[in-house]
Amino acid sequence: KNIAIIMGGYSSEYEISIKSGNVVYQYLDKSRYNAYRIIITTKKWVYLDGDGKESPVDKSDFSVETKQGKVYFDCVFNAIHGTPGEDGILQAYFELLDMPQTSCNHYQAALTFNKRDLLSTLKPYGVHCAPSYYLNLGDSIDEKAIVEKVGLPCFVKANRAGSSYGISKVYEEKNLKAAIDNAFSEDNEVIIESFLDGTEVSIGVITYDNEVTVLPITEIVSENDFFDYEAKYQGKSQEITPARISKAQETNVSKLAASIYKILGLKGYSRSEFIFIGDIPYLLEVNTTPGLTEESILPQQAMAAGIPLPKLFGSAIDEALR
Ligand code: DAL
Ligand code: MG
Repeated sequence: KNIAIIMGGYSSEYEISIKSGNVVYQYLDKSRYNAYRIIITTKKWVYLDGDGKESPVDKSDFSVETKQGKVYFDCVFNAIHGTPGEDGILQAYFELLDMPQTSCNHYQAALTFNKRDLLSTLKPYGVHCAPSYYLNLGDSIDEKAIVEKVGLPCFVKANRAGSSYGISKVYEEKNLKAAIDNAFSEDNEVIIESFLDGTEVSIGVITYDNEVTVLPITEIVSENDFFDYEAKYQGKSQEITPARISKAQETNVSKLAASIYKILGLKGYSRSEFIFIGDIPYLLEVNTTPGLTEESILPQQAMAAGIPLPKLFGSAIDEALR
């Protein structure tokens, strides 16, 4: 089978995605799959061969010209974080081409990538989330109303972004404006949420061997003020798997994460983040193309579950091809 590992993307998460894609390329079981790296950016869609030479992708059928001739793909392995790989745009393109791909479908991707819409979809199911305030680009900013609704400190986030780009923790009303401007540099929608003071956990839910499977839970202890970019990728955090939470908390949040996966109709990988306030898990977000770099959480969780990376990656492809 010919597998196109797509990586790059149009957002600030480009570098992370390249790392994720290269990890997939490195570990994919070469006795089962022919792996091809495809880099997608705003400027170019190219196939990157083993010698580092680039050749263009034919967007009409997603084929590439290689030294051995034209290659058509059986499946796309999606390693793009952020737009257009995590927000449904590429998913829709591959659906139009009738090309199997490892991540969820376009609607699920668009919904989960939009933090506001995700949380408001899940609230009626009894999922807890932080009080929030929402701004579109150009809205007038009423700092008093924001603070009244969400309190201080609060988190200002780009509504559709990842890897903590555009996120600030704000302690004083006078700093809200700068934080909002910073979030608008990543997206034209901003969500401002109450700070939840509790244990943060990250839960991988994947389809593995045809079963919805909850991986061992990771507790996140950031050395920085929150789990920001540096904490995520430059070692400024401790990621403890399994999380040091009670058995009851573990059972409860695992069930919740699995039921969110099913309610949303996800497939492939997902990784959702929660903060415990007492025994109640509050949902922060769901990532449908979670990081697969050596520093990333989902691969660590898979290994903790005794799933080697070639099996983790192969199982997503098998699911897509089923
Ligand atoms: N958005 C990053 C890649 C993650 O969720 O792991
Ligand atoms: Mg995220």
